[in-house]
Amino acid sequence: MRRTRRRTCAVPFLAAIVLALCMFAAATVATAQTASTQPPLKSVHVDLNDTAALRAGAMHFMHQCLACHSLQGARFQELAAALELTPEQIQSRINVSGLGLYDTITSPMPAQIATQYLGVAPPDLTNEAGLRGADWLYTYLTSFYVDPARPTGVNNVVFHNVAMPDVFAGLQGLQSPVTQSGYRNGQRMPIAVGVKPLTHGSLSAAEFDRMAKELVTFLYYISNPHEQRSHAIGVWVLAVIGLWTILAYWIYRLFWRDVTRPSGPRWWSR
Ligand code: HEC
Repeated sequence: MRRTRRRTCAVPFLAAIVLALCMFAAATVATAQTASTQPPLKSVHVDLNDTAALRAGAMHFMHQCLACHSLQGARFQELAAALELTPEQIQSRINVSGLGLYDTITSPMPAQIATQYLGVAPPDLTNEAGLRGADWLYTYLTSFYVDPARPTGVNNVVFHNVAMPDVFAGLQGLQSPVTQSGYRNGQRMPIAVGVKPLTHGSLSAAEFDRMAKELVTFLYYISNPHEQRSHAIGVWVLAVIGLWTILAYWIYRLFWRDVTRPSGPRWWSR
């Protein structure tokens, strides 16, 4: 068969390449202008089987965070199973808000008042661990540092110019920033990449660290309440799929047992 040579016009191809290069250059410039140094995250191991940590985390949350933050994706009653407590114990030991057992975990702070005093309404934290990750959350909670330039007097290593006050100042003590030269919005400047102790709090460093980890464990559970169950079910789902694969193969062998194949090349090697 005679092959005819197709004539192609190179102009559209060249135009597409030039356009792609322009877009790449524009994206690079835009990224360079907003480039910011990302401080390293501290890593944390979350163990949802650690019921003591979950309970302690729930108590810390109710006493220290619920004043401003809600967990409206969860109800007090749902905590009973995870914390291995009876509904009565939840009401007497965990739920300090005075809300009912079947109410969602809601802060008494009206968003309007919070905005008036803090500049921002404290966000709902139901999905915070899912959104930011446990490592970020742990780093955030342990990385407030003194910054006289801020209205609250503090700043945060992983949340620059955060509006949240340092609720741990009494327990942890104050911290000063560890800075290094880096970029914020494309400008070179000293960036806080860590913290070091400045004053003592009422807890030792190890006790405070445990408290922060317990809070992370609780908030992680709130974001992923079905994680343990889905892991347990997942093993069975994979086992059933495996079994069906074996059965399907047996049936395939059974069906094709008596079918004679034509000799000669197969369709794919013709
Ligand atoms: C006095 C009110 C107040 C208290 C108490 C408080 N926070 Fe906050 N928190 C805020 C505000 C306001 C913000 C919003 C910060 C911003 O957007 O600049 C915030 C933000 C956060 C964020 C980041 C949310 C995001 O945007 O990703 C986390 C996580 C958080 N708080 C956790 C906690 C935990 C845990 C506690 C309890 C130990 C707590 N907060 C106690 C006011 C509070």
